[in-house]
Amino acid sequence: MAGFEIKKGIYWVGAVDWNIRNFHGHTYTTNRGTTYNSYLIADDKITLVDAVYAPFANELIEKIKEIVPVEKIDYIVVNHIETDHSGALPALLKICPKAKLFGTAKCKEGLFRQYYQNWDFQIVKTGDKLNLGKRNLMFIEAPMIHWPDSMFTYCPEEELLLPNDAFGQHYATSERFDDETDACELMDEAAKYYGNILWPLGAVIARKIEDIMKMNIPIKMIAPSHGIIWRKDPAKIINAYLSWTKNETKRKAVIVYETMWGATEKMSRIIAQGLMDKGVETRLFDIATSDRSNVIKEMLDAKGFIIGSSTHDNDMLTSIAGFLEFLKGLSPKNRLGAAFGSFGWAGGAVKNIEAILKAGGVELIAPGLAVKYMPDEIETKNCYQLGVDFANKI
Ligand code: FEO
Repeated sequence: MAGFEIKKGIYWVGAVDWNIRNFHGHTYTTNRGTTYNSYLIADDKITLVDAVYAPFANELIEKIKEIVPVEKIDYIVVNHIETDHSGALPALLKICPKAKLFGTAKCKEGLFRQYYQNWDFQIVKTGDKLNLGKRNLMFIEAPMIHWPDSMFTYCPEEELLLPNDAFGQHYATSERFDDETDACELMDEAAKYYGNILWPLGAVIARKIEDIMKMNIPIKMIAPSHGIIWRKDPAKIINAYLSWTKNETKRKAVIVYETMWGATEKMSRIIAQGLMDKGVETRLFDIATSDRSNVIKEMLDAKGFIIGSSTHDNDMLTSIAGFLEFLKGLSPKNRLGAAFGSFGWAGGAVKNIEAILKAGGVELIAPGLAVKYMPDEIETKNCYQLGVDFANKI
């Protein structure tokens, strides 16, 4: 149950949630689990930065107890009110009711609306400082990264940034640091996190990173509130974020489809062949059987999206419809697209896919390809040509 010292006198006292498989309702599949990272700073003023999800409140309390008596906590910094970080606060504040909370104005308002408690709360703004004794904390408001209340906390003496959700990953591990874990898995989870949660907020994130760079504050460690702590190379995740915020892509296409009786699937494989024959990095997913969050991660660095569906009741099938609604909400920029699908008597799927892609900001670069029942010889060639033409344009 022990906490873990990440720097002299600063402890990770969070919880590993090995078995969670869905996050944010069912919008995010956490197939590697997650962690809720909470940090205890044992200075003259005992300070906790962020808490954990309510089911892990006892674990948090037990870990703190091994370091200091919980009732001795003076300050609790609430970087973000979302339940996965604030859920343990009611249990914790029953033990240390005099602890003073620090957060943004939106944090104060949101915390009250979640827990209806009149905790001692001090509103802080960017640049405000809090002296803990040997160390200071400086607060940096970070609205919409990813909620209006969000805030980062920086400790200058330790050159430590505590940015809550930003730079995090849903990644349950026994290791706590980037140099201890598998680098590919770590970046894979960081990309999945950005793609599924932060993608639509790219402009805000880019501005915030720029603001922090202008502050000229050295950052030797980034300790987010999910997953692994970046100590070996914090610049690696900052640079990855900068690339993602710019919507930088590579010559890669992701085909996502849903099929009723195999015709649309057949089309998808022929289109993929056309792309691959032209040297395009290609990924192909049947959305009805694929992990949607992983598909989004694959789309994060792909220039092209090719979406297909059979027609059912004059529209696309339901899994691809849900997926496209989610994709539209992520507002991908600088992407090229095309649609395809099979129909029986009246079509509808292809034009409706095109409409959603356009509404989501994807530029259509090839006419939609609709095929009656199974593709014949000419239509098979047309599918292949769609892949080739698409490859030539990306
Ligand atoms: Fe990890 Fe926005 O909560």
